[in-house]
Amino acid sequence: MTTHPPGHALAVHATGVAHDYGRRPALRGVDLSVAAGEMVAVTGPSGSGKSTLLHVLSGVLRPDEGEVRLGDEVVTTMSEDARSRLRRTRVGVLFQFGQLIDELTLADNVALPLLLERRKRAEAMETARAWLTRVGVGDLADELPGEVSGGQAQRAALARALVTNPGVLFADEPTGALDSRAGSDAMDLITDLAAEEGMTVVLVTHDARIAAYADREVVLRDGLVDADETAVVR
Ligand SMILES: Nc1ncnc2c1ncn2[C@@H]1O[C@H](COP(=O)(O)OP(=O)(O)O)[C@@H](O)[C@H]1O
Ligand SMILES: [Mg+2]
Repeated sequence: MTTHPPGHALAVHATGVAHDYGRRPALRGVDLSVAAGEMVAVTGPSGSGKSTLLHVLSGVLRPDEGEVRLGDEVVTTMSEDARSRLRRTRVGVLFQFGQLIDELTLADNVALPLLLERRKRAEAMETARAWLTRVGVGDLADELPGEVSGGQAQRAALARALVTNPGVLFADEPTGALDSRAGSDAMDLITDLAAEEGMTVVLVTHDARIAAYADREVVLRDGLVDADETAVVR
C-alpha cells in the first residue's frame, strides 16, 4: 500500500464518467480535472447528477463507464477494500445534514475515523478534541449532536471529515441545511482550513453565493458538463 504524507493534496481526474441507476442516465460522459489544492464548485439544477458525480469521485460508487483518479491512484479499478481504505484515509466527505451518530458525543464522532484506523483511544480523543477546537466548538466536545445547533453540528461533521488529514474534501450541499449566516461561517471555515491544510475541495451546491467561494465553477446539466469556468470575482 502506498503511503502518503498527511494533508498532501490530491488532484482529481475524471474522464468519460457515465452512470445510470437503471433507467434515465444520471451521468453521460463527464470529464473533470481538479488540480491539487484547488477548490471547485459543482453546480446545476436538481437531478443534474451532482451527487452522483461526487459519489463516483469519492469512490463510493463505481461508474458504469469512465475512469477516476485521485492523485496517482485509479479509483475505478481498485478493489472494494482498497477503495474503502482510500476513502477512510485520504478522502474527507461532508454532507448536507452532518450525519453525525446521534448516540455519540461530538468528540466520539470525530474520533471514530481514527479508531477505525486502529489508533490508540487516548490519542484519537486528543486529536478529536483539538479538531473540535479548531472548528470553533471545542467547548461542546462532550455534547450529543441533538444538544447543539445545526451550524455547530456541521462544524463537528467538518472536523470528523478532516481528522484523518485527507488530501481531498468532497462536500455535498454542506450549507444546505443552515441559515445564510451559519452557511457563510461554514464556508469561511472550509476555505481557511483547505488553504491551511493545502487540501483539494470539490463542493456541490445549487447556491451561487456558496459557489462564489470556489476558484472555479463547473455546471452540470442533464448529466453533462455544461460550463467549466474560472471565477472572475472572489
Ligand atoms: N439511488 C438512486 N436510484 C435511482 N435513481 C437515482 C438515484 N440517485 C439519483 N438518481 C437519479 O439520478 C439523477 C441524478 O441525481 P443526482 O445525482 O442526485 O442529482 P443532483 O445531486 O444534481 O440533484 C436523477 O434523475 C435522480 O433521480
Ligand atoms: Mg444532490
